[in-house]
Amino acid sequence: MSHDEHDEHDEKEEKRESYRLALRELDAVLAGIDDPIAAMSTCAAVVRQRLAAASWTGFYRVVAPRLLRVGPYQGGLGCLEIPFDRGVCGAAARERAAQVVPDVDQFPGHIACDAGARSEIVIPIYDAADELVAVLDVDSHQPAAFDEIDREGLTRLAERLRASLGGDRAAFRP
Ligand code: SME
Repeated sequence: MSHDEHDEHDEKEEKRESYRLALRELDAVLAGIDDPIAAMSTCAAVVRQRLAAASWTGFYRVVAPRLLRVGPYQGGLGCLEIPFDRGVCGAAARERAAQVVPDVDQFPGHIACDAGARSEIVIPIYDAADELVAVLDVDSHQPAAFDEIDREGLTRLAERLRASLGGDRAAFRP
């Protein structure tokens, strides 16, 4: 292994470890909690704290058939509403599939809430009944900050959230 390969290997292992810790933390804090606002706020905070590359972490909730509205987040002011046909978040909701975007300037329809954002990853969030309830958006000021490890790690966190999202819908939806 060359020096660079070694560094890359270490960085990947560090990132995997961050996700393991994030999952453990989320699991411990949300034990017995069935409340979407508490669950999403906690998840946004855990990911922001654990992921060095993250500049913005948060949720956009499905509030109407093809409309996302901002939910709990950490970072600068996020845009309020995103229709399913716009942006990276809209694509994740529309396609019900994770979006890993190494260069946001190359993504058609990317919504620039933060001019400093260079890359992002968005994961669909389902509740215990398998209904799409939100997307989790993580942005970075670094180019190509997210990869397969992030997709896997965030998907695991999303899986853990399911059990805590089924509570008080009235507190969560208009
Ligand atoms: N960049 C996102 C919009 C949300 S924020 O950046 C907080 C998008 O294109 O969907």
